[in-house]
This record gives sequence, structure tokens and C-alpha cells, in this order.
Amino acid sequence: MSGNRTFSMIKPDAVKDGHNGAILKIIEDAGFRIVAIKKTLLTPELAGQFYAVHAERPFYQTLKDVMSAGPIVAMILEKDNAIADFRELIGATNPANANEGTIRKLFAKSLESNAIHGSDSDENALIEGNFFFSSFEKF
Ligand code: GTP
Ligand code: MG
Repeated sequence: MSGNRTFSMIKPDAVKDGHNGAILKIIEDAGFRIVAIKKTLLTPELAGQFYAVHAERPFYQTLKDVMSAGPIVAMILEKDNAIADFRELIGATNPANANEGTIRKLFAKSLESNAIHGSDSDENALIEGNFFFSSFEKF
């Protein structure tokens, strides 16, 4: 994705609360192009694969439960400096520490149910995009 693409997921809590439209508007208003988008459901096993990097952490089981509790909206987004700009747009992992106006400040309920995911590196954005989409490099 060479620096201009990131992967994001609106998490089950925010989808359930009806925030898809509001979140997508914030993302587009911030200058991100939606390259690919899909509403789908993760099983606990798939959620565990997606967050395999956290397999040894004490919150891994909770993370799998929360991420498979309902549908998610997966998307690939494009913008210059996509990874860093998107992490800034979503705010800190714990919404209690998130800046005003960020997606997590606006919509996250807790550290566990924090509304949205954003890739943390170009390498992981590519892996995560491939987890949900095929052939998206053509989009
Ligand atoms: P993602 O965009 O979802 O990957 O979040 P992040 O990159 O801001 O944080 P990280 O990848 O470190 O953690 C993944 C998810 O695990 C977070 O979004 C939190 O919901 C959850 N998490 C992270 N740290 C903790 C923790 O210390 N305790 C608990 N209960 N959950 C945590
Ligand atoms: Mg992360």
C-alpha cells in the first residue's frame, strides 16, 4: 500500500449503536477515499486471527468476544500519510485519553468497545486489507 492506504474496521459496538453513517462522514470529510468497504461478521476464531499479535495479552479473550459480538464494517482507505493521519483521526486507544473531536472520543464506550480500528503500520495495513478483501490493489 506504500504509505497512502490504511485498513479500518467500525467495531460491533458502534455498528450496533447506528454510528456507521456518522463515522463514514467524518472519515470522508477528513479527506480519505473509501477504496473498499464491506459489512460482515467475525467469528471469535477470525477475531483471534486478526488480533493474533495480542494472543499473549490478558485481554485477548475479551477482545475476541467484543469483536465477534455483532457485525463490523471493514474498509480500505486512501489518503497521503494514511496510517498516521487516520490514527490521529480516531484518537487514543482508551477513549478517556482521546482528543476532542476524534472518532473514539465521540463514539467509543470504553477501552474494550472503542468504536473503530486503524492499522498501525503500512505492513499491517496490507495484511489486514488482505484479511477481508481480495484484489483490492485494482480498486
Ligand atoms: P486497534 O485499532 O483496535 O488495533 O486498537 P489500538 O491499535 O489503538 O490498540 P491495540 O492494538 O494495542 O489493542 C487492540 C485493542 O485491544 C484495543 O483497541 C482495545 O480495545 C484492546 N486493548 C488494548 N489494550 C488493552 C488493555 O490494556 N486492556 C483491555 N481490556 N483491552 C485492551
Ligand atoms: Mg492496534
